[in-house]
Amino acid sequence: MCGIVGYLGEGEAVDVLLEGLRRLEYRGYDSAGVALVRPGELRVVKSVGKIRDLERTLRRRGGGNGFHLGLGHTRWATHGRPSESNAHPHVAGPIALVHNGIIENYWELREELAALGYEFASDTDSEVVAKLVQRYYRGDLFEAVGEVMGRLEGSYAIAVVSREEPFVLVGARKDSPLVVGLGEGEYFLASDVPALLPYTRRVVFLENRERVLLTPQGMTVVDEKGERVKGELQEITWSVSLAERGGYKHFMLKEIFEQPRAVADTIRGYVSLAKGAVDLPVGEVLEGGIGRVMLVACGTSWHAALVGKLWMEAYAGVPVDVEIASEFRARDPVLDPKTLVVLVSQSGETADTLAALRIARGKGARTLAVCNVVGSSIAREADEVVYTHAGPEIGVASTKAFTTQLAVLYLLALAAGVRTGRVSEEGVSVCLKRLLALPGRMEEALSRDEGIATLARELYQAKDFLFLGRWLNYPIALEGALKLKEISYSHAEGYPGGEMKHGPIALVEEGLPVVVVAPRDRVYEKMVANVEEVKSRDGLVVAVVFPSDPLQGRVDRYLEVPLVEEDLTPFLTVLPLQLLAYHIADRRGCDVDQPRNLAKSVTVE
Ligand code: AGP
Repeated sequence: MCGIVGYLGEGEAVDVLLEGLRRLEYRGYDSAGVALVRPGELRVVKSVGKIRDLERTLRRRGGGNGFHLGLGHTRWATHGRPSESNAHPHVAGPIALVHNGIIENYWELREELAALGYEFASDTDSEVVAKLVQRYYRGDLFEAVGEVMGRLEGSYAIAVVSREEPFVLVGARKDSPLVVGLGEGEYFLASDVPALLPYTRRVVFLENRERVLLTPQGMTVVDEKGERVKGELQEITWSVSLAERGGYKHFMLKEIFEQPRAVADTIRGYVSLAKGAVDLPVGEVLEGGIGRVMLVACGTSWHAALVGKLWMEAYAGVPVDVEIASEFRARDPVLDPKTLVVLVSQSGETADTLAALRIARGKGARTLAVCNVVGSSIAREADEVVYTHAGPEIGVASTKAFTTQLAVLYLLALAAGVRTGRVSEEGVSVCLKRLLALPGRMEEALSRDEGIATLARELYQAKDFLFLGRWLNYPIALEGALKLKEISYSHAEGYPGGEMKHGPIALVEEGLPVVVVAPRDRVYEKMVANVEEVKSRDGLVVAVVFPSDPLQGRVDRYLEVPLVEEDLTPFLTVLPLQLLAYHIADRRGCDVDQPRNLAKSVTVE
């Protein structure tokens, strides 16, 4: 859940490290630090807070210029509260180390080292790794890290330097991501690609249990047996500007407005316009018949999966279950080779979703990943992967990742429908035409932002909110509530409209904002009944409706979305809810892109 960076070259290491950390801040932001090495000197500066706090501390301590090797870390606390001593890099003799992940056997290792006389300055599992490297260090850092890897249980991406080897940068990983960037006469290490983009697009994603040695002479990658491996060089094609704010006040707002483009890119990538057919790279996972589909995910990706289930059942006619990844792995799921397990994850690094994937593979199920981050662990370990083409999503609140996941799941449902014979070629062609018209409608929906900002001005002080929806828009009610609570810290609950009478209606009182997602679809009349129930108890109804809908005259406020076929409504109805959450959070003065207690990719369990 932390972000790590490393640099070796001729440039100012401190500048590269700080820039990289700023770009990784989404991974965690409760403390940060850098370690800088030059012959005879190891300088470590740490600070509680965000990267800007680290920069201030660095300035107070005379800056960090004149170093060409270094490590940086931005932390999201797992073991040990946010404090300077718990912040990384951890120092052990000549060694400095940064770590992302969780060391499961750290207590045993700590006791072993303590018995040997090692002392600990922090409560972290990471410091144990640093001390262990010190223990095995006999002047060859790469070798010492190899020995340490054999002792660690759990997950880690580490970057390590030694004062004794001022031109050597070492990295290693298991179950946490680490990518090497190759520049002109310089090397980078990072948890994620955005940290590298200002410097290089040529990257190598380290595989599990691989270790990399970077020196001015070149790069060496070895596997867990110490045997040399090639390390596949990949070229990153997305641009730096895609990862920057581009004039918007927050990344989240920029990403909300990028959705028409992101959805269009995702659809175009998987549709053959000439044939009017779906062209998903799902290869063999759909071959030979599917008995059952399981969609597994967390958070917003789980909401996308809930919508995907309804499409998949309708188009493919196969039974579909949707599972929260942490629950899936907690039980003993019954799977067989006829089960297709679809892992939905923006980051491709969510620990529970990754664990679910491994369970599914272990039980012989076919696995398909729907991921946004190229080269991420889930993408690499699944049998097949379909990438969403959202581009980097920096805001912690998922927005464009969600709608692009919807696009892929819709296409997957159509592709499966063709295989099961429930959807004809003409049927697919009609659906694709509608789908291709969606980005334009999404633009239109987003153009109503001003009205939504006005409504947010009215509602931003409300303490509680209720979101109601049915069928395809029940997951959208859940998503609207999640967006609002995670970035504005307002209490919000999402419910299926039909469940209102079974409890939540007791919450309705004068002025309670109740957001009712009610496009004209097969459950519209039932949503109208929900509106009446809320109104008769003096709740303040905000309805998400089509233009000129009769409900507009019966509710307190309404948010209009353009007319669209009923099965595509989630693509549009979610947009005003994202914007409403954004404007409420912004009005409340919240840190929209980096809400408290959250991190963009949840790589801890
Ligand atoms: C939603 O806004 C959150 N960022 C969160 O629920 C997220 O969707 C969840 O952590 C899953 O992440 P993933 O898609 O990267 O696996």
